[in-house]
Amino acid sequence: MFVTSARTMHDVPADLEVAGEDVAGEFDGLYAHAAHNYAPLPVVLAHGEGVWVTDVSGRRYLDALAGYSALNFGHRHPRLIAAAHEQLDRLTLISRAFDHDRFAALTGELAALCSKDAVLPMNTGAEAVETAIKAARRWGHQVKGIADGTARIVVADGNFHGRTTTIVSFSTDPDARTGYGPYTPGFDIVPYGDLDALGAAIGDDTCAVLLEPIQGEGGVIIPPDGYLRGVRELCDERSVLFLADEIQSGLGRTGRTFACDHEDVVPDIWILGKALGGGIVPLSAIVADRDVMDVFTPGSHGSTFGGNPLACAVGVEVVRMLATGEWQERAARLGERLADGLAALPTGALSGFRVRGLWAGIDIAGERTGRQVCEALLERGVLAKDTHGSTIRLAPPLVITEEEVDLLVDTLAEVLAG
Ligand SMILES: Cc1ncc(COP(=O)(O)O)c(C=O)c1O
Repeated sequence: MFVTSARTMHDVPADLEVAGEDVAGEFDGLYAHAAHNYAPLPVVLAHGEGVWVTDVSGRRYLDALAGYSALNFGHRHPRLIAAAHEQLDRLTLISRAFDHDRFAALTGELAALCSKDAVLPMNTGAEAVETAIKAARRWGHQVKGIADGTARIVVADGNFHGRTTTIVSFSTDPDARTGYGPYTPGFDIVPYGDLDALGAAIGDDTCAVLLEPIQGEGGVIIPPDGYLRGVRELCDERSVLFLADEIQSGLGRTGRTFACDHEDVVPDIWILGKALGGGIVPLSAIVADRDVMDVFTPGSHGSTFGGNPLACAVGVEVVRMLATGEWQERAARLGERLADGLAALPTGALSGFRVRGLWAGIDIAGERTGRQVCEALLERGVLAKDTHGSTIRLAPPLVITEEEVDLLVDTLAEVLAG
């Protein structure tokens, strides 16, 4: 397994051609010609290796966000980079008008990892969610007998499933939703973690329940024990598909392959993305058994880039890495260390925290916003991301070492004490 050793945050790796001090000014106009749909922390990155990234002036930072779990294996993991290089020299894109020699390996090995029959690859997470919604609606009509155009899907409040117009239609976050109407109908929103509300919302026209097994964007919200099992039971009883959005929670992050594994629950559709592309290419997928997947027929769904040779070459390497279980074991072990470290922070510094594997949502006590805490962490060489006011999220790459977990917790302790 490739891991980077802890180094001081300000070392410059020998192989980095640092731009030079005066170059920082070149980035003043970074947003002169860009949309303002993000408010990033003030750092311009130029290089990454493992857990560490380096900015244009040569300063190093521990990346405790890992691209919202897209970089589960760290920056430029040698095995993934080698797979990408090899494929770049052979064949990169053909569209699905033809077949290519990497497709069967990805679909076969990913289906096996998920213990399902079939894979439909796409690119972004939002596309995979859209694909799952389309599959569920068609299944509702063709298999369950719901009149075409009337199928409903139950979702949870506080969800984050992406940014398309249909997906923001059932967001409860005003920032994500406001002004983008008219909205797509057919969604019923219930409180996350409330099985009674979920049961009450399922009607004759319900084709699916769509949930994040842990709500990432919501602040790493872990539902009550037994919730996912209860969702599975309700879906079975009422003949409704369970769509699990594991785009952020899946592929090793929580110490198991999937967050649903913590309750031994298997959904009808796994929705995957982010880490599947190895931090190199966008690659997402839905994974399901034939009775669901076969609602798609030629021409009924697709994507020019979905399942392209380059993405498949990287994706299959990701699947092979996960197939041994060692990444999941590592995330579980180091996650315990992270949880112990957070539990040892001075009482009063936090109003709460939740950890599952190497994934933490931390609620800051007192007046400071999550953004202010992230800015202070940045000054001390740690990259993290706030969400919803006073919460920050930590999701370091799974290649992080014990020492680096301690460094992360110690830096947070310093910031909280300051
Ligand atoms: C749970 C979940 N679903 C869907 C998405 C959307 O993925 P993408 O940004 O690749 O479209 C995200 C992104 O953060 C996510 O966390």
